[in-house]
Amino acid sequence: MSHQLVIVLDFGGQYNQLIARRVRECGVYCEVKSYRTPLEELKSLNPKGIIFTGGPNSVYDEKSPHITDKIFDLDIPILGICYGAQLMAYTLGGTVSPCETSEYGKTDTHYDHSSILFGGIDLPATAPSWMSHTDYVSKVPDGFRITAHTADCPAAAFENPEKKCYAVQFHPEVNHTFAGQGMIDSFVKNVCGCSGDWTMAGYAKTAISEIRSKVGDGKVLLALSGGVDSSVAAALLAKAVGSQLTCIFVDHGLMRKNEGDEVEQAFANSGMNFIRVNAKDQFLSKLKGISEPEKKRKIIGEEFIRVFEQEAKKIGAVDYLVQGTIYPDVIESGLGDAAVIKSHHNVGGLPDCVDFKEIIEPLRMLFKDEVRKLGTELGLSPILVWRQPFPGPGLAIRIIGDITEEKIEILQDADFIFRQELAEHGLDREINQYFAVLTNMRSVGVMGDSRTYDYTVALRAVTTSDFMTADFAKIPYDVLETVASRIVNEVKSVNRIVYDVTTKPPATIEWE
Ligand code: XMP
Repeated sequence: MSHQLVIVLDFGGQYNQLIARRVRECGVYCEVKSYRTPLEELKSLNPKGIIFTGGPNSVYDEKSPHITDKIFDLDIPILGICYGAQLMAYTLGGTVSPCETSEYGKTDTHYDHSSILFGGIDLPATAPSWMSHTDYVSKVPDGFRITAHTADCPAAAFENPEKKCYAVQFHPEVNHTFAGQGMIDSFVKNVCGCSGDWTMAGYAKTAISEIRSKVGDGKVLLALSGGVDSSVAAALLAKAVGSQLTCIFVDHGLMRKNEGDEVEQAFANSGMNFIRVNAKDQFLSKLKGISEPEKKRKIIGEEFIRVFEQEAKKIGAVDYLVQGTIYPDVIESGLGDAAVIKSHHNVGGLPDCVDFKEIIEPLRMLFKDEVRKLGTELGLSPILVWRQPFPGPGLAIRIIGDITEEKIEILQDADFIFRQELAEHGLDREINQYFAVLTNMRSVGVMGDSRTYDYTVALRAVTTSDFMTADFAKIPYDVLETVASRIVNEVKSVNRIVYDVTTKPPATIEWE
């Protein structure tokens, strides 16, 4: 694919992915590379610019990541952020010292608008930036000038335009930095000269032609879960190779209300071979009487593979297997410089059980928001494009205790009402995950003049960016009231609703 490239050189910062996403939001393609990447390799990629990320170290730590000063002679614009700024200063002969007063959080910053980074964007002379550092640049290298300062940080930004070197002690990639996105945009467009040639329409076009020439007349197989990634991968492959693609959608009967049909509808007329395996009875019989969460997960994972395998065998040998790997998985497993945050619980192991020659990962360079944009570009239904994450084991881990058809139905109905009301009140996009849980607890209620003894449904809704930590969503009481009243009135066997107000940690998002 031919488009301009900016390299995000990773020095172990927690925000490396965020920097890359911000660059992509400017319509500029970028890749995250380890600081250990040899200079020759970086050069051969012909980047329009390089961004040094932050990192947890001090430049004086023995084990801190360093970089050869030759990188500054490549005539490629460089922006150093936080540790990256300190490293730039240190490597070019400036001085880095421990802060007398560390800065953390939003910090009033005074900007010099004659800098190309700060002029031309909507940025007041003084505005908050996001700081997080215990060292600071006490003397900038010769030839550099200071372009921003705070009360405790005399060189909050500095630059040497002749050398095309720019540095900011704060984090422009974090939303709390006022106009941070504009600063990144100024760097990649005005300093590096990028034109903004990275679009999902362009990506779709190139990916489709690349897939076509790779696959030729080969057979392709895809395990479709109905999740965003596998759905978008399916839509892309369907456009590229149509009937050579077979998608197997294993419906374990533990999807949300109507979800199996929605997935089927979305792909029914896409030109590919779509196989929906209705395996509800098979899954439920294996799950009968099982209430231990880990056992449920294991049974579902194994059964999933077995069903997929049975269907794949009918198709015979395939040439390619498609996987919906996305860029954050690649960064997290590949670089090893940032603390590894494990993506967990995936129903994995599929490649082992199918005979195929090669794996195709058409989304491997895309972030989640780009995957959604691509899905929209490909005309995929908004129901699939904007689907919130849904665990592989489905409702099985939202029904506490053993699973029965009756309980699945109760939960599907309650969950449907909750989702409907959040959408109705415009809260569905700002809350990252929300669902109902059928507790195994029954309690006394009164309906009309009669005593009831029915289930308690718990509502769970969280805001989170990484799903590793989460806050409970502050849903307005009147919305909760409507949801509760509708569920107890419309869903049989439920007489009590509770709202889960725990954060993660110590709780998890799912109840099992
Ligand atoms: P927890 O409950 O661990 O969930 O806080 C974090 C995120 O992971 C999802 N999750 C799963 N996803 N298979 C999946 O594909 C699973 O077994 C599974 N368990 C949890 C959960 O929905 C949340 O988004």
